[in-house]
Amino acid sequence: MRSTRRAGEGMSTISTGASMAGDTVSGGGRRSRTTDAKLSEIGFDESAPLLEVEDLQVEFRTRDGVASAVNGTTFSVAAGETLGILGESGCGKSVTAQAIMGILDSPPAFIAGGSVKLRGVDLLSLPEETRRRVRANRVAMVFQDALSSLNPVFTVGRQLGELFRRHRGYTKAEARAEAVRLLDLVGIPAAADRVSDFPHQFSAGMRQRVMIAMSLALDPDVLIADEPTTALDVTVQAQIMKLLADLQAERNMGLILITHDMGVVADVADKICVMYAGKIVERADVYSIYRNPAHPYTKALLESIPRLDRKGQQLASIEGLPPMLTRLPAGCSFNPRCAIARERCITDEPPLYDIGDGRQTACHYHEEVLGS
Ligand SMILES: Nc1ncnc2c1ncn2[C@@H]1O[C@H](COP(=O)(O)OP(=O)(O)O)[C@@H](O)[C@H]1O
Ligand code: SF4
Ligand SMILES: [Mg+2]
Repeated sequence: MRSTRRAGEGMSTISTGASMAGDTVSGGGRRSRTTDAKLSEIGFDESAPLLEVEDLQVEFRTRDGVASAVNGTTFSVAAGETLGILGESGCGKSVTAQAIMGILDSPPAFIAGGSVKLRGVDLLSLPEETRRRVRANRVAMVFQDALSSLNPVFTVGRQLGELFRRHRGYTKAEARAEAVRLLDLVGIPAAADRVSDFPHQFSAGMRQRVMIAMSLALDPDVLIADEPTTALDVTVQAQIMKLLADLQAERNMGLILITHDMGVVADVADKICVMYAGKIVERADVYSIYRNPAHPYTKALLESIPRLDRKGQQLASIEGLPPMLTRLPAGCSFNPRCAIARERCITDEPPLYDIGDGRQTACHYHEEVLGS
């Protein structure tokens, strides 16, 4: 078991964590990377895969026992690729994201094993100070709740500009110009005027755009968006998803989209990992998973997506709740809620079966699920 490490210092008001780190890229348009000396000392191999998470394990040590919130998670994200991570509340999606970012609160969270490699360097092995630099410059995050992530007492221009002043040594005027450019980039009308407004003066959708501008300010290679549209109405959700997809394509970023709503990522993700009770239970390209899921849980999530052609009908929901992580059922964790569970599901925990075409599923009876 890997020794336990302090994973982060908690969240700053600016959720990219960018306010805490060193300098980065030069300004203007899609910028070329001229990282500061300390970042280049880390030894990233730019020809290595962008992000590889392998056998990641995060535990919460609580009074009720040890909860394995992330239990052996493995996935990768390439430049220009979008990975959707799906699952109901409490399945370990945010903890996975926080472990990658290095912002887990420890205690109670402890990384118990695995690696998070960015361009060949295991971020989990880096000292915290170095981690901060990486967080600001290479891996950024957008959270669900923009209002609590932005600082209410400063204008958005000041908060955005601060990133450029602190990390690039821009003058006040230069930083303001960059802030306007970014607000414009994320589709905020009259950006030159809005730059002087405070967060509460923006609508929820526009605030989420400000958050996205913040996360992109220092030109990250990987963007993690954790339920970025959950607080928004359906029309605005679609606009924000489109914005993220466009920016990702334009900047060739790796994008990880975390959501409990399968409907949200269908149009933008390339591949999907479905999480249940801390584990990946199905992995596939987006087309296959929506057309023909291979796990009963994925199937149930799909059936809970509102559909226009089923207007007026009651929405299917998955009966029951995910299990307490300190008291997982024996065998398959999904067995208490699974319509096709049988004896073997209670005695044998299913491995992640390879089912061809790069697909995997943790269900003993996947052939039956695929055929149904
Ligand atoms: N601060 C905490 N203390 C104890 N357990 C926690 C804490 N935060 C998260 N967990 C555990 O980790 C699990 C996964 O949480 P999370 O990743 O936030 O779920 P989600 O998939 O909704 O993002 C929770 O179900 C809970 O058991
Ligand atoms: S292994 Fe059994 S309980 Fe688990 S998902 Fe498959 S059929 Fe259902
Ligand atoms: Mg979450």
